[in-house]
Amino acid sequence: MKDIYTLAIESSCDETSAAVLVNGRQVLSNVISSQVPIHQKFGGVVPEIASRHHIEQVIPVVDQALLDAKVNLTDIDHIGVTYGPGLVGSLLVGVAAAKGLSFATGIPLIGVHHMEGHIFANFLAHPELEPPFLSLVVSGGHTMLVVVKDYETYEVLGQTRDDAAGEAFDKIARVMGYPYPGGPQIEKVGATGNPKAIDFPKALQEKGNFEFSFSGLKSAVLNYLNSAKQKGTPINEADVAASFQQAIIDVLVHKTCEAAHETGQTKITLAGGVSANKHLQEALAAMCEQEGFTFYRPSSILATDNAAMIGCRAYYMSKANKFTDLHLNAKPSIPL
Ligand code: KG4
Ligand code: ZN
Repeated sequence: MKDIYTLAIESSCDETSAAVLVNGRQVLSNVISSQVPIHQKFGGVVPEIASRHHIEQVIPVVDQALLDAKVNLTDIDHIGVTYGPGLVGSLLVGVAAAKGLSFATGIPLIGVHHMEGHIFANFLAHPELEPPFLSLVVSGGHTMLVVVKDYETYEVLGQTRDDAAGEAFDKIARVMGYPYPGGPQIEKVGATGNPKAIDFPKALQEKGNFEFSFSGLKSAVLNYLNSAKQKGTPINEADVAASFQQAIIDVLVHKTCEAAHETGQTKITLAGGVSANKHLQEALAAMCEQEGFTFYRPSSILATDNAAMIGCRAYYMSKANKFTDLHLNAKPSIPL
């Protein structure tokens, strides 16, 4: 059978990325140009600046991905591009580049949902993985529990009512004075802290509730820090970071465990940028071992934003004949 080559482009937030895959699961190249150092001095992603950098980076990054993969554009069977959700200006750059390439070459175009891409990162990390499975998706913009029934059918069991898990990490890191992105900083600072030092609240713990809420936790941490400052009592930053991180992890692990039992799923996959957190990985792995589930997670590179995961999703969409035309537009918010 002829090999199928996918070119994928991702530009939904602050990473410009392009990848080439063969037969959907083999990554030939995955080039990521990160803007983190640019946004760090502002304490978070500045959308206008992000779009401008995507414009500068997108063509060189696509060229590099083709070069690294040792394939020509003429070898490519279809082009997958993230069209949402994300920052609209950032998404527009990737979408315009993909449409331009498709129009110039006649290569078919596929619009990919960013969160589906995150879920599909696990197919790259684990060649043997097949649906159905339960996926815990935790990124900077989303937190959700999803049953992936087959490659095209998903059931969202619950998502966050307010902040996403990664967003909570980023906001707490910011008030504690750590640079963006906050998740890795909280993990680093918390490494020497006691996760049981402060009992921060865990919302929506009642049975059968698969929604998340992290705004109460965020307020509790802020109140703790403010009241310590007012009283002039010293703050043990390592304990605050470790206890905050533990509160998030406890909720994620508890709900994932319950959701797996309720839906009868025995395979659990972790997805999204927060899955780079070692404590979360360990806690989920331990829960899965205890409950007899099999645990899958992507490597850090495949967990945070990258085009390879978009390419994997695009490949399966091509098999389902889900192509799009040149009317494809960027959509900042779209449901799964
Ligand atoms: O999936 P992603 O790269 O981008 C979005 O689609 O949002 O996720 C980025 C998020 C950020 O909020 C970042 O702080 C968080 O993932 N993150 C982490 C860690 N590494 C990245 N959160 C906790 N611990 C980490 N080690
Ligand atoms: Zn993402």
